[in-house]
Amino acid sequence: MRAPVLGSALVALTLAAAASAEPGGAAICWGLGNAGQLGDGRSGDTAGGHFSPVPVQVLAPAGGVALQFDTLSAGGMHVCGLAAGRPFCWGSNGYGQLGVPKYYSGMSAAPVPVTTDGLGGGAAPVPRIAAGSFHSCLLDAEGAAYCFGHNYGSMLGTRIPGEDQNEASGSFEVATPSRVLSSPSFADISGGLVDYTCALTEEGAAYCWGTGEYGQLGDGRNGTGHASWEPVAVLGGHRFVALDAGSTHGVVCAVDDGGQVWCWGTGSTGELGDGRCNFEDFYEERAARCSDSAHLSNTPTAVVGNHRCQTVTAGYAMHKTGRQK
Ligand SMILES: *[C@@H]1O[C@H](CO)[C@@H](O)[C@H](O)[C@H]1NC(C)=O
Repeated sequence: MRAPVLGSALVALTLAAAASAEPGGAAICWGLGNAGQLGDGRSGDTAGGHFSPVPVQVLAPAGGVALQFDTLSAGGMHVCGLAAGRPFCWGSNGYGQLGVPKYYSGMSAAPVPVTTDGLGGGAAPVPRIAAGSFHSCLLDAEGAAYCFGHNYGSMLGTRIPGEDQNEASGSFEVATPSRVLSSPSFADISGGLVDYTCALTEEGAAYCWGTGEYGQLGDGRNGTGHASWEPVAVLGGHRFVALDAGSTHGVVCAVDDGGQVWCWGTGSTGELGDGRCNFEDFYEERAARCSDSAHLSNTPTAVVGNHRCQTVTAGYAMHKTGRQK
């Protein structure tokens, strides 16, 4: 795999003009903009690059009118969003993660429309989009999942002919949305950073695909080489209402319909919230607080305490936060 360079823009939506009854709004970004991920028309590869410590306005697409976004998702060095059900991305396209072959191996510092020609739902609005580190995924109107960008660890849910799914080198890119194999109908999707993706069905069943070395597929398996390019069911029979796939080595957290948070994947520094961690990863003075030598969970494990949450986000940093009900 090419050297990962992370450092995304932070994004937010401003409210539409007060007089407007339309949902959504203008997109603003702040942070690093070296690969155009601020969407303000600027980029910069030189030392220091382009960055902005204050929010900047995301431009209209070339030759188009200003977009009113409903949702945004910030990835490694790109951002994707939906405007009236139409998917747009901007920033780095080094792996095809903008879904636009024209900018392949390049970048776009303004929103470009994701190629939607092959989507099953045709021109119907796209309900969900998620930006991962080097890939993006979306759902079509029928709930089928599509991914594009880097396919390391088969996180796109597709098999590129001739590609060794577990080999960390080679050509792994898909520049237009590619249908996830054996995709059930999904209601939500979250692109994990780097090498895996998870999604929820309407009924709240979780499925994951990509690399499962650290148990992040939740399918009861872990170990070097464990990967799946077809969605596998997360074990435990939970009915989840929200899910977020997170950090590099793989943590996924989800909230069930009773507000209980569950996590699976790596827990070396306590990310699983189950009271355990891996002392080998800690400085000596902290070792006493951790009990395990290789803590991970390949099935959902309950976050301890009597917290009732409505949402959870699993960050790139080893830190989990939930918003209490
Ligand atoms: C799976 O994880 C457990 C717990 O960390 C570990 O003991 C076991 O060796 C792992 N399995 C494989 C095949 O690596």
